[in-house]
Amino acid sequence: MEAVLFIGVPGSGKSSFFKERLFNSHVRISLDLLRTRHREKRLLDLCLATEQRFVIDNTNPAKQERFAYIEAAKANRFTITGYYFCSKVEECLRRNAARPDDQRVPDVAILSSAKKLELPTFDEGFDQLFYVRLLEGGFTVDGWRDDV
Ligand SMILES: Nc1ncnc2c1ncn2[C@@H]1O[C@H](COP(=O)(O)OP(=O)(O)OP(=O)(O)O)[C@@H](O)[C@H]1O
Ligand SMILES: [Mg+2]
Repeated sequence: MEAVLFIGVPGSGKSSFFKERLFNSHVRISLDLLRTRHREKRLLDLCLATEQRFVIDNTNPAKQERFAYIEAAKANRFTITGYYFCSKVEECLRRNAARPDDQRVPDVAILSSAKKLELPTFDEGFDQLFYVRLLEGGFTVDGWRDDV
């Protein structure tokens, strides 16, 4: 069974990618949606117990934050797939500025998330790792290379 972890600052395209590529197969676990860590944990535990594929659609910039999900998923014999979303700050700021009012985040959320960002590495426990870019024509997905 597959657990997916997204990594990327606000505006990098995570939720759009979910809608486009994973909506039909994976439950979306998003702190923005669920609001509290308690509710997030309840839904995560349910997916783990029922062998339901899921995506953690949070920014997950720091290794330390990712570790808890990876550890829980491994303990339940899920494989871990990571999608890193290219997080060029000026592009994310521009996309954020173009969002409707009710979906826009404060710019500082992008800046502080970018500051915390640690690129994912296989030694964190990922079985697969991909690099996603959001271009004008849509998403491109490449296998991970440590030199990107
Ligand atoms: N194919 C596309 N081409 C250009 N822009 C796009 C495309 N798909 C989505 N966007 C825009 O990119 C922006 C960011 O997308 P999205 O909401 O998926 O980011 P996110 O990483 O989930 O952000 P957050 O962490 O704040 O939830 C949105 O404003 C969306 O309209
Ligand atoms: Mg989102």
